[in-house]
Amino acid sequence: MKIDILTLFPEMFKPLTESIIGRAVKSGKVEITVTDIRDYSTDKHKRCDDYTFGGGAGMVMMPEPVGNAIEAVDPDHSARRIYMSPKGKTFSQKEVATLLSYDRLLLLCGHYEGIDQRIIDLYIDEEMSIGDYVLTGGELPAMVITDAVCRYVDGVISKDSLKNETFTDNLVEYPQYTRPQEYKGLKVPDVLISGNHAEVDKWRKSESEKLTELLRPDLLDK
Ligand SMILES: C[S@@+](CC[C@H](N)C(=O)[O-])C[C@H]1O[C@@H](n2cnc3c(N)ncnc32)[C@H](O)[C@@H]1O
Repeated sequence: MKIDILTLFPEMFKPLTESIIGRAVKSGKVEITVTDIRDYSTDKHKRCDDYTFGGGAGMVMMPEPVGNAIEAVDPDHSARRIYMSPKGKTFSQKEVATLLSYDRLLLLCGHYEGIDQRIIDLYIDEEMSIGDYVLTGGELPAMVITDAVCRYVDGVISKDSLKNETFTDNLVEYPQYTRPQEYKGLKVPDVLISGNHAEVDKWRKSESEKLTELLRPDLLDK
């Protein structure tokens, strides 16, 4: 999987160099390239935003630098081009599988009031939101989507760890415990230390169902 991220704030992407995604990048399982849109500004002051036509508060990202950056990074339109936008389709676990079917993603991050509409009309395949709230920029959404997609790339996380996770079969995951067996008076359920794998599986399934009912009853309607 190759992911190109286009942003005015490349420094914000340091978190993707850490932990599991950082290791996946280092080992070459995923390729993440962050491109600074400002490098594609033709303005002598590298300006990338301007006032909005029609009046109103806030600045809009100008089309030229963004269009130049997209054309430079993805000249043959081989990437699925996605604009991070609160107006877009809400990203969910279902979309992870869809995005994994592409070899290459281009995630475009807006900032300020957003990006000139002509960029979306000319270059973008779809708009995607990470939830019904407005953030200051598309950088966190791009990191959220990158993380959620990359953990499913072969070899990034063991297949076993991805089994029975929350959202599998429209259930949330069962409770997890580790050592010590007793913490502040609370004990690990006996079944988990019984060594009886069939009973452990049964307990986990039943706890998943109970927790889903309690925390996410909406999933059971799906
Ligand atoms: C302040 S927002 C612009 C909001 C825009 N004026 C509106 O009302 O729809 C700036 C940028 O943050 C990003 N953004 C904000 N909220 C987002 C969300 N929930 N999901 C994805 N991207 C978001 C988008 O790239 C957007 O262009």
